Amino acid sequence: MLERHNVRTRWFHAGVYLTVLILLGTGWWLTLGREGQPSVLSRMVGLPDTEVHLWVGWGFTGLAAAGVLLGWRAAWTVLADSVRFRRSDLRWFARWPVAVLTGRFRRHDGHFDPGQRIANLVMVGLLLALTISGIGLWAVSGGPTFVWFNRVHRWSTYLLTPVVVGHIVIAAGVLPGYRGAWRAMHLGGRLQRDTARRLWPGWLERHEQPAGRGRQRGGRRVGPPP
Ligand code: HEM
Repeated sequence: MLERHNVRTRWFHAGVYLTVLILLGTGWWLTLGREGQPSVLSRMVGLPDTEVHLWVGWGFTGLAAAGVLLGWRAAWTVLADSVRFRRSDLRWFARWPVAVLTGRFRRHDGHFDPGQRIANLVMVGLLLALTISGIGLWAVSGGPTFVWFNRVHRWSTYLLTPVVVGHIVIAAGVLPGYRGAWRAMHLGGRLQRDTARRLWPGWLERHEQPAGRGRQRGGRRVGPPP
């Protein structure tokens, strides 16, 4: 059994997805014009949906800021791996549609697979746009700036929704190729070696090299798992 992410990262991830799921739910509720009709969550906490959304929005903003400030090293590792692309990743993508069913992915060397790297960048970019425009909507009460913040906030929601749904379907391991992936983040984060070999072969090799030897990539030392 292998630990791919430490306990702090797993708790941070759980906090992010709980707040993002509530923000997506309440955001869609508002944008579909249900503001006058309190949702189940709104009735449970006794606040209008707009306020639930804003409070959870502040919670998400605080969590993201704390994550970057306190976990800057892990945040940097995730970002640095996500922007790194090799020519061989194109072959990984060509095989991907079949591999999600068979589990026979082409080799890649990243901490994340090439698809997850793109999803990471898209999610970070859109969540940043949502946070800035959300604070803008709260701070500005009308006029063209408000209209722009609203446009950015809505369009980021439309784009983020399918990416988050795809991320959940893949990470939950319901597709045969990704079976066992959810273990990397849940229930103690203990991952089977076979799952790691199938999904993250380069990471597994670096992880299993004796300390002090290897654990290097492109001449640079690789830090602890985020
Ligand atoms: C995953 C992140 C988020 C999503 C998906 C999301 C989505 C949405 C959507 C769809 C709306 C309705 C827009 C409309 O139709 O006019 C909305 C409204 C709003 N959001 Fe967000 N949002 C997110 C994060 C945030 C954050 C971080 C903040 C601020 C800290 C925020 C503050 C607001 C405010 C102030 C409104 C206007 C509510 C009102 O009508 O009074 N949002 N959001």
